[in-house]
Amino acid sequence: MDGRKILVTGPTSTVGLPVTLDLAERNEVWGIARFGDAAARDRLEAAGVRCVVVDLATSDFSDLPDDFDHVVNFAIARGSDADWDRDLAANGESVGLLVQHCRSARSVLHCSSTAVYQPAGAHQVAETDPLGDNHRAMFATYSIAKIAAEVVARTACRQFGVPTTIARLNVPYGDHGGWPWFHLKMMEAGIPIPVHPDRPNRFNPIHSDDIVRQVPLLLEAATVPATTVNWAGAPAALEEWCALIGELTGLTPEFTETDATIASVTTDNTRMHELIGPATIDWRAGITRMVEANRA
Ligand SMILES: NC(=O)c1ccc[n+]([C@@H]2O[C@H](COP(=O)([O-])OP(=O)(O)OC[C@H]3O[C@@H](n4cnc5c(N)ncnc54)[C@H](OP(=O)(O)O)[C@@H]3O)[C@@H](O)[C@H]2O)c1
Repeated sequence: MDGRKILVTGPTSTVGLPVTLDLAERNEVWGIARFGDAAARDRLEAAGVRCVVVDLATSDFSDLPDDFDHVVNFAIARGSDADWDRDLAANGESVGLLVQHCRSARSVLHCSSTAVYQPAGAHQVAETDPLGDNHRAMFATYSIAKIAAEVVARTACRQFGVPTTIARLNVPYGDHGGWPWFHLKMMEAGIPIPVHPDRPNRFNPIHSDDIVRQVPLLLEAATVPATTVNWAGAPAALEEWCALIGELTGLTPEFTETDATIASVTTDNTRMHELIGPATIDWRAGITRMVEANRA
């Protein structure tokens, strides 16, 4: 993908920053956020990204052009204060208003989450499986706001005829962020890692390099009505990746069992593989790179 005009929301996010920097190498990229992270904004602007301050909870896009080829929505509001009104506005309403503003776009990628699924233990959830509130223990508004945002994305797709992909991301990680990165930091600080008692805690981590590579593929796969697809790597248990971090660092992971954490969410990736192919970075290789990048 090159020579396109692309709008990225949440360009300073852990997931969105590497994507935005990559897209900016070959495209005209605009980013919107409140830009509380000045260092990330500096990196984006140095890469040529045009940064415009927007608070998605109030959804005023009057400072933005409306002739984007593509919109990539990574923004997420998930305060610890359980402000439902703000989070439904910032995560849900904003999607409809933004697609309305950008309705001449060729495609929209709405980044969702496997946090939208009803907890299902070791069952590999497919896109047709029941939805539920599986992140409530850690982020009160998160799952329900992500479900609401998907519904708004589906509606806006049909209302404005803008091809849309809704990609349900599992556990993103890279050299400098994501859940496994937090686990490395907790192990370094000697902090026990919360795990759900229904063990092992199964997920499908996906490396940042695969996310960067697959964003254009997900934009190409967009349809009316919207296509919804899991976005995930091969299965791995939290306990397994922490054990590998332990082997690589000489640190011993300490686990504490609690219901107040996210339980297993492991995915059926059949539809993803048909649409855009699999993630290619083996989680062991990705975690090894992450440890090396942080302990050089
Ligand atoms: N991290 C994960 O493990 C994970 C897992 C599955 C799916 N996802 C999805 O991946 C996407 C990125 O997640 P992330 O964890 O990388 O995000 P993050 O690091 O928490 O960053 C959130 C982004 O949203 C922006 N934002 C928040 N509130 C805003 C508001 N009111 N107005 C405008 N911008 C706002 C933030 O910038 P400002 O604060 O400066 O405005 C920032 O750029 C989200 O859609 C998330 O649901 C993440």
